[in-house]
Amino acid sequence: MTEPDPQKQLLAKEAEFWDLQEDKIDSLYARPHDWRFVPKLAEKIIQPRVDTLLRLIDGNKDRIKSLVDIGCGNGWLCHAMAKRGIHSIGIDLSPKKIETAKRMAKEQGIADRCEFVAGDVMEWRPREKVDLLTSHGSLHHFPAFHDALQHMLAHHLKPDGLMLFVEPNHEGMAPEVVQFLMKCAKSWWGKRVFDFAFYYEVTGQTSLDTPPPPTDGPDMNIRHESPAGKEFFGEHIELDDYFAEHFEVIERHFYHYFSSHATNAFYVFMKSKLIRGIWRLLLPMMVRRDTRLLKDPKYQQFAEDGLWFLRRKASR
Ligand SMILES: C[S@@+](CC[C@H](N)C(=O)[O-])C[C@H]1O[C@@H](n2cnc3c(N)ncnc32)[C@H](O)[C@@H]1O
Repeated sequence: MTEPDPQKQLLAKEAEFWDLQEDKIDSLYARPHDWRFVPKLAEKIIQPRVDTLLRLIDGNKDRIKSLVDIGCGNGWLCHAMAKRGIHSIGIDLSPKKIETAKRMAKEQGIADRCEFVAGDVMEWRPREKVDLLTSHGSLHHFPAFHDALQHMLAHHLKPDGLMLFVEPNHEGMAPEVVQFLMKCAKSWWGKRVFDFAFYYEVTGQTSLDTPPPPTDGPDMNIRHESPAGKEFFGEHIELDDYFAEHFEVIERHFYHYFSSHATNAFYVFMKSKLIRGIWRLLLPMMVRRDTRLLKDPKYQQFAEDGLWFLRRKASR
């Protein structure tokens, strides 16, 4: 009997993970564990990032008539770009996410400008090469990251095409955020409002002072990183260096230093409505502070996400 191909097994687990996440998405909203699932907060926090993304697309609209969005999830980026007249193709491993993407495109009346494909990016080629390749949080789910990019450059993107990637930049919370949260949790008032049970469920820790267990177990906990994503993560993800070495960087920006991590922790772990309300009020100030701090490389290394706008180096 032939040994099962480990790469194929990992992909199957990855697809299962994202299908499961799509199935559970409503219940995640019902008990938000993550700022990304809390619409009013998420919108405020990601606004600077979305503003940059739209500025770059709009600023290059004469050059961008078509795009492929790698790991498109529910297709939101394709939908937004199709509304700007760009022919948008989204591909994703999860059939359930693709179903949602197609349904949403129909609901928004843009199905004629969007195509969605369920499958592995590495096994797929568009009919025609496109002007822009995008990935919003998906490239890091490709275990052979370098090969994956080479495949996309060779088969998906026109030779003079552009790339716009938003990907994780640093795993875990910045030290300043951890220190602040632990101080709060251990304070007399923190002990009353901190949702310890939920914190332990999410982190797998048994006390505030024990380190989290390794996340490479066989579990399919959708609160953790996906099976293929786990393979990618190192302590500090050197995407910035990688992109600078291989591509011409037209623009790069870093996002989410304090506001997202702390919101994640506060909104979820704080049971008090009052504190959540105060947090909401303080949030715009924190987002502005993040934007200011993240101009400094000292903080950039701890930014949760980076945005890179790239093109091939002239010699490549
Ligand atoms: C973090 S989600 C991001 C989804 C979406 N871009 C967004 O912004 O919401 C990563 C996505 O990558 C997809 N993915 C992972 N590996 C893939 C592969 N080899 N081919 C296609 N899609 C893949 C997953 O199914 C998942 O939907």
